[in-house]
Amino acid sequence: MLRDQHLVQVHVLLNFLLILIVIAPTFGGHHEFRIKEATISEIRNAFQHEKLTSRQLVKFYLHEISKLNPLLRGVIEVNPDALRQADKADRERKSMRGGCSSELHHLHGIPILLKDNIATKDKMNTTAGSLALLRSIVPRDAGVVKKLRKAGAIILGKASLSEWAHFRSFAAPGGWNARAGQGKNPYVLSAYPCGSSSGSAISVAANLATVTLGTETDGSIFCPSSSNSVVGIKPTVGLTSRSGVIPVSPRQDTVGTVADAVYVLDTIVGFDKRDGVATRVASKFIPKGGYLQFLKPDGLKGKRLGILRHPFFKPRSNSIATLR
Ligand SMILES: *[C@@H]1O[C@H](CO)[C@@H](O)[C@H](O)[C@H]1NC(C)=O
Repeated sequence: MLRDQHLVQVHVLLNFLLILIVIAPTFGGHHEFRIKEATISEIRNAFQHEKLTSRQLVKFYLHEISKLNPLLRGVIEVNPDALRQADKADRERKSMRGGCSSELHHLHGIPILLKDNIATKDKMNTTAGSLALLRSIVPRDAGVVKKLRKAGAIILGKASLSEWAHFRSFAAPGGWNARAGQGKNPYVLSAYPCGSSSGSAISVAANLATVTLGTETDGSIFCPSSSNSVVGIKPTVGLTSRSGVIPVSPRQDTVGTVADAVYVLDTIVGFDKRDGVATRVASKFIPKGGYLQFLKPDGLKGKRLGILRHPFFKPRSNSIATLR
């Protein structure tokens, strides 16, 4: 009997300790904001409570880039106007104080890196990593860039990639281009970073930007996202405009996004007359109110997931082995 009472006491004590362990981090971490690993909604919250400015955010990333990029090679260029754009976002947010700054677009004041095959009409080069396009002048911003600027996003710079989106040569290593050199997987430097949106994934994994854009023709978003342990979305062809994106195949190319991907996807989807045929068809399927509404913890409840057991095509190395 005594023994049982003792056990009950121990049990109650353990439960109490468990509750403390569970609730302690919520108390301790609540008022402290850290840029590293912060999500878009945490950053927006910090903006609204005047704990953070876009200038601080951009300065943080510029510092991380100058420190880590000589090793990681995830970024080809930084935008000389990034801090100016941050100041503009800060002014706009300030002028909307008194509750309504929450009405600003989700990406307002958020720094984004663009894969270097996505055109920007500004001080930056758009080269797909190739020396051949250095100093060439693009006629206008890519369709997706137009949408990002309208939302108030800060174009922080250009992310590196497998040169020409890996269509320079199939033998070239993933993540390599003549301008930036070999991109590295920040978790294991000797591990394959994969490509071709290598810099888009490396930069998010290493906290060199909040979010990035990548492109995919076959595997160029999901492979580097998987290799560098970040989230990537490869949208259906035509959901996002390819205008102003250095092309590989009009039937397969698509612009997608890495990290906090749904916020960015919502911003860049939709009709663009310069990619009219594809975006007109696909834009019919964009849900009213966007994709963000489906981001909920039980979002997959009741869904059935398919597992691909028989791939559509075999890896190239296999077919070579068969030929021999
Ligand atoms: C674009 O490339 C030219 C030529 O290498 C270089 O001088 C310039 O600094 C580049 N632009 C940026 C923003 O890095």
